[in-house]
Amino acid sequence: MRSILVLNPKGGCGKSTIATNIAGYFASEGKRVSLADCDPQQSSADWLSVRPESAAEIKPAPVKAGKIDVPRRTEILIIDTPAALHGKKLANYAKISQTIVMPLMPSPIDIRAAEHFIEELFSLRKLINRKIKVATVANRVREDTIAAAKLEEYLDKIKLPSGHKLPFITMLRATQNYIKASERGLSVFEFAPAKTTYDREQ
Ligand SMILES: Nc1ncnc2c1ncn2[C@@H]1O[C@H](COP(=O)(O)OP(=O)(O)O)[C@@H](O)[C@H]1O
Ligand SMILES: [Mg+2]
Repeated sequence: MRSILVLNPKGGCGKSTIATNIAGYFASEGKRVSLADCDPQQSSADWLSVRPESAAEIKPAPVKAGKIDVPRRTEILIIDTPAALHGKKLANYAKISQTIVMPLMPSPIDIRAAEHFIEELFSLRKLINRKIKVATVANRVREDTIAAAKLEEYLDKIKLPSGHKLPFITMLRATQNYIKASERGLSVFEFAPAKTTYDREQ
């Protein structure tokens, strides 16, 4: 089983959006996907509850007292997390994951906050899987603004404690497509194909 942890200490940066879209992607590719929502706000769980029966199945993975009850035969587990997840609780989820995807909003303040968070993550190295892969996704990028250009510049400068660059996977534009798909319990891989071509590429 592969576990993907979607993480960022800030609220509203796109964790639930990215978690549900990754889940929708793998499910539509025919994988057995489960989605764990560790956030009391339950955005991913709500998304799953309105997901139509016609869409590829995604199973809920119930979370009780910080423990995830993973449905049998799950191939891909997506873990959505609350804001302000730190210390032991953070290590608890990171321990069972191979990959961390960190949504980032394109603002210097948010990027600095993410840097501190990555330092914290590396300070937990003894508690978590040493081979864990961490990468960022810039989210809600308005491509017509200076912010997008600045963002690439900033991300380029960020270094991990190991001295390596902070891996940066992609930028996702700000678009209503995420909001409209989400209202229907879908990902952009399953919604309005003609309108979402660019988003699916990103
Ligand atoms: N790329 C995007 N374009 C437009 N709206 C977005 C995008 N990503 C997230 N949103 C919206 O921003 C809000 C916060 O996103 P959400 O995924 O709930 O963040 P988090 O889970 O980190 O709190 C939601 O209303 C969501 O629909
Ligand atoms: Mg959320």
